[in-house]
Amino acid sequence: MIDGKPSRTCAEKHDTVPVGWRRDAAMVSRMAGIDTLAWFDGEIRNLQEIRVSPLAHALHYGTGAFEGIRCYRQASGRGGVFRLREHMERLSTSCRILGVSIPYDTVTLCEATLETLRANSFDAAYIRPLVFMGEGAMGVAGGDNPIHTLIAVWQWGSYLGDDGMKHGIKTLITSYERTTGNAAPIRGKLTGQYIQSFMAKRQVRALGIDEGLLIDRDGYLSEATGENLFVVVDGTIFTAPDSSPILHGITRDTVLTIAADLKIPVRLERFGRSELYRADEAFLSGTAAEITPVRAVDDRTLRVSPGPVTKAIQSTYLELVRGNGPRATEWITEV
Ligand SMILES: Cc1ncc(COP(=O)(O)O)c(C=O)c1O
Repeated sequence: MIDGKPSRTCAEKHDTVPVGWRRDAAMVSRMAGIDTLAWFDGEIRNLQEIRVSPLAHALHYGTGAFEGIRCYRQASGRGGVFRLREHMERLSTSCRILGVSIPYDTVTLCEATLETLRANSFDAAYIRPLVFMGEGAMGVAGGDNPIHTLIAVWQWGSYLGDDGMKHGIKTLITSYERTTGNAAPIRGKLTGQYIQSFMAKRQVRALGIDEGLLIDRDGYLSEATGENLFVVVDGTIFTAPDSSPILHGITRDTVLTIAADLKIPVRLERFGRSELYRADEAFLSGTAAEITPVRAVDDRTLRVSPGPVTKAIQSTYLELVRGNGPRATEWITEV
């Protein structure tokens, strides 16, 4: 869990920093201890022994593409990766958008993911593939710098906390605008683009709020810093349409499929602050956050959290990723 309380040592170490920043410091320190086996440029290596040049282009200019994927323990006792192919296809698309040529095809990346999970004997894990520009030409445009590929795995609980999963989280509509297509290529999951999410997330955390929501240039809600956003009004689910400046979340797609299966009406429409304030329920979707109910927006508490629609979507999702449901065979790759 990344949003948990800091350990004693971390809290002590960071006694001089403002309260809201302590959790981040604790998180960094905990994450730094990850010592798993990773796949790097075609080989399984100790994660902590992989060395990257301080002059790697991506460190300076954010020229990387990444994914977040989850593997769940299935009823069989084996691990199963949820929508692996779709994630690797999105990674490949992100690289195409960025204009770097990924050195491995999707099948190789899927195989490499399974190999990494097996090497660690993990039946449940978070998986972080990252493709980035290495050291070479140092100007903004780079040159024929080497392209590195990493697949790291580690064990990671609920991204927004177990309590958040059960009772809902507090959100704030931040003043940060979600980038639109002319400012940056919004459909790719590109590392440099996350500076906005970083700024918004740090801001809300410092205020004791769990997650930040971003508006688009026209003032409509787009998404959260790392999740897609849904509201429920009179039993109908609303979420920003594909044409909005959002990441086309794979979990969002799963939610839309589940809603269709459960015969819950969905409208892909832009909505603003008022709709969110008057909503009966709201929830976020993302690979890391899974389906997290929203309990409050700004200074307002929503009517119910989790409401009946959120609960139905959440429980169906959590069953599905563990292999229970009609789409499980199609969407889960056994390790
Ligand atoms: C900005 C943003 N929106 C939405 C999502 C949800 O995407 P997915 O469901 O594919 O994990 C993510 C997570 O990757 C994200 O970073």
